[in-house]
Amino acid sequence: MTLRDLIERKRDGGAITGAEWHAFARDVASGKLPDYQVSALLMAIYFRGLSSGETAALTEAMLRSGSTLGVGHLKVGRVDKHSTGGVGDKVSLVLAPLVAACGAAVPMVSGRGLGHTGGTLDKLESIPGFSTRLTLAAAATQVERVGCVIMGQTGEIAPADRKLYALRDATGTVASIPLIAASIMSKKLAEGLTGLVLDVKTGAGSFLQRLDDELRAAQEMIALGLLHRCPVVALLTNMDSPLGVACGNANEVEEAIATLKGGGPADLRELTLRLGAEMLVLGSAAADLTSARAQLEAAIEGGAGLEKLREVIEAQGGNPSTCDAPERVLPQPEVREAYAAPRDGVVQRVEPRAIGLGVTAMGGGRTTMEDRVDPAVGFLITARPGDTVRRGAPLATILARDAAGAALGRAALDGAIVIGDHPVVPLPLVSHRVTVAGVERLA
Ligand code: URA
Repeated sequence: MTLRDLIERKRDGGAITGAEWHAFARDVASGKLPDYQVSALLMAIYFRGLSSGETAALTEAMLRSGSTLGVGHLKVGRVDKHSTGGVGDKVSLVLAPLVAACGAAVPMVSGRGLGHTGGTLDKLESIPGFSTRLTLAAAATQVERVGCVIMGQTGEIAPADRKLYALRDATGTVASIPLIAASIMSKKLAEGLTGLVLDVKTGAGSFLQRLDDELRAAQEMIALGLLHRCPVVALLTNMDSPLGVACGNANEVEEAIATLKGGGPADLRELTLRLGAEMLVLGSAAADLTSARAQLEAAIEGGAGLEKLREVIEAQGGNPSTCDAPERVLPQPEVREAYAAPRDGVVQRVEPRAIGLGVTAMGGGRTTMEDRVDPAVGFLITARPGDTVRRGAPLATILARDAAGAALGRAALDGAIVIGDHPVVPLPLVSHRVTVAGVERLA
């Protein structure tokens, strides 16, 4: 069977067998197949979809195209969280050490920012010396010793997905639910997890945009987890405006540390507690969500979460005093400029996409994977949809490299923060909880 046969079969609505998916993933990973044919198959999948059996076989094949983290012998549960990507989303920086401090192991493979969304790895790399490039063997050792690692995808983890994701990005075939589910789950299952929590973003800054699609993506991933004895719980959470106040890189690390010290924005703390409670229950480190939440709160108030972050930073070569005085250790912007309300009114929208693209325009994000990120630039955005403001009231602070950067930041905020006259009811922070038992509407 040639790849051309598979393309034609999928183009005509037929199914590809498990053995064929395995051969395909193996040949994609080894670089044997021409990009134009692989891209044609991806486009056929985009239009024709995959059955649940095909999605499971593709996931398994991508997972088996690489190695897995050798942590199966650990006595504690191994849990992770995956977010579909947002703006100001620094949850992982708070959540991973906090959950590890409460007794579950957290082997976290994270991503970089692209387009309007930020990436955990870029944020962490604003910490002087911090390395996110670990081999699987080094990561397994760190999980055993520290209980937590936060690293990038290496060539060892689902290499077929790496190649397919790059082609999907270049061919407009990212937004396919079976391809998204197989891509995310092949990488997460390579971490050797006993439980996974999905943070599926909803609202203007989210990836899929339609609630039906978001629920379907969550359900596909829950089904894939079940096949691998990895229970998955998904929370649908608000990305209609940025999460927390800081949007950028170093400033998001500062905000994460403030949250681990018991401060930080209320939405960031609450979302971290909600996701963390699910992780502790899935990792058998708590009996139920209520006691899990109490454990997490105690780890914030008693400082165990911050100490765990310090251990992770130290283990990965970073400067541990970041935890004591982040503003002295982390890169700082040359220019700080206040941004004020242009008129009286009610904040209608704080557009996450425009804010994220503003960070990128100032140098704090990427338009290609090769771009370098300026860790010091970004925004501090205090305006929230529904706030009543007076003309001249502070809405945000622009953090820029120079005057030209500040002008780009101002232009982005002019488009992103919309003030009008109508009352606004913001979306709930967590709207749905999806498990193998079904969809629960929470708000
Ligand atoms: N993130 C991934 O890792 N894969 C996708 O397909 C989409 C988002």
